Amino acid sequence: MEKFIIEGPSRLTGEVNISGAKNAAVGIIPATLLVNGKCHLENVPDISDIREYIEILKSLGSKITYITKNEMIIDNSNIKSAIASYDLTSKFRSSYYLLGALIGRFDSVKIGLPGGCNLGARPIDQHIKVLEKLGATVTVKSGNVIAKKTHKLKGEHIFLDVVSVGATMNSILAATLAEGTTIIENVAKEPHIVDLANFLNAMGAKISGAGTDTIKIVGVENLKQVSSYSIIPDQIEAGTFMVAAAATGGDLIINNCIPKHLESITAKLIEAGARVEEFESSVRVSLDKKPNGFSIKTSPHPGFPTDMQPQMCVLLSICNSTGIIVENIWESRFQYTDELIKMGAKITAHGNTAVVKGVDKLYGSPVKAYDLRAGAAMIIAGIVAEGRTEISDIHHILRGYENIVEKFSKIGAKIEYVNDNVEVQND
Ligand code: EPU
Repeated sequence: MEKFIIEGPSRLTGEVNISGAKNAAVGIIPATLLVNGKCHLENVPDISDIREYIEILKSLGSKITYITKNEMIIDNSNIKSAIASYDLTSKFRSSYYLLGALIGRFDSVKIGLPGGCNLGARPIDQHIKVLEKLGATVTVKSGNVIAKKTHKLKGEHIFLDVVSVGATMNSILAATLAEGTTIIENVAKEPHIVDLANFLNAMGAKISGAGTDTIKIVGVENLKQVSSYSIIPDQIEAGTFMVAAAATGGDLIINNCIPKHLESITAKLIEAGARVEEFESSVRVSLDKKPNGFSIKTSPHPGFPTDMQPQMCVLLSICNSTGIIVENIWESRFQYTDELIKMGAKITAHGNTAVVKGVDKLYGSPVKAYDLRAGAAMIIAGIVAEGRTEISDIHHILRGYENIVEKFSKIGAKIEYVNDNVEVQND
């Protein structure tokens, strides 16, 4: 079994470099399918979700040339198939972007349903609604989503029922090559939405309004290849290290990030008593006392990101009073609190609310990574805690954090990756 073993406590100091954004890369990689040519991508995170995506693209006929592990040329001149099997798509969530990307180019697309973190119900009704509004027929059967069109997709005025990152990205992908103008209202405003729109505009798309509530897409006949596009830094990876700095009473400089994307996280850390300094492409976070209690209500960007609430819960677990977390996006995002309780945290989670009463110390324990961000929270907790923490199910963490052991080790954590299944060869 793969595990992380952490000996705590450690105080994190020094500098860490943030990788490219997972949730932008997983939209931009399928977006390359919209062009009959090559796209050169830089700052692509080397994480398992991206490696799985590349495998799907190869199965469709893409040719991938790696320049470094974070830079690649994707050549989609010979896409032969618009079918991606459930075996491949169910390994992660964002495989649903293949629908929007491929229906722009093909008349019939068959994509296995997506997988991803277990955060409660994860419907895709809004993705389907948009494709249907644009003129495709969509059927879900036997674990697949089948989208068909008999003529070019046609621009429409669409109002999303919920603010959804995935449905917004899929709408942009599907409408880029549609005939006429598409206006989508009540869209998500996350930095990765803006990055996808910027990438497509660099290919010749006509998308405006990304980052606001309404996006306008004027359909174009075709797109051109891109000679170089660098993916934005990962907001959540940067936020994870910011919280780790504060929770360990450390002092960290977090490089290659966009401080504007981190404002809601910065605001909470300041409430906790941390000092946060912002520079052009880095932030410095330090805390030299017990954190104050504070409350969080997760909401779509620019609100506090749900993907940062488990990490913040670790900080609240050792605060000098009580904190409250209200989760407004995912219905089952508090499963990890049982793991923190094993470590000595005092958390009562009920429905979408968790009350976290600060304790003096956390203690190392065997714990499980319930999902990607819960796993990141376990790492922070293990570094804060006294003694040995063993984290299992770390495949969730490896889906979204590049070189996580190396990055945490370099700033003072005692963390190692262990794989019990690997037989040791004796000479
Ligand atoms: N929703 C619907 N119908 C839909 C789509 C979504 O009701 O058709 C609901 C969901 O149930 C949820 C809310 O709308 O309550 C928001 O879901 P959204 O579609 O925004 O989530 P997503 O696109 O599936 C992305 C990230 C998640 C992140 C959420 C919220 C990717 C690949 N995933 O998911 O990231 O939590 O947005 O910000 O971009 C992670 O990186 O660890 C992660 C889980």
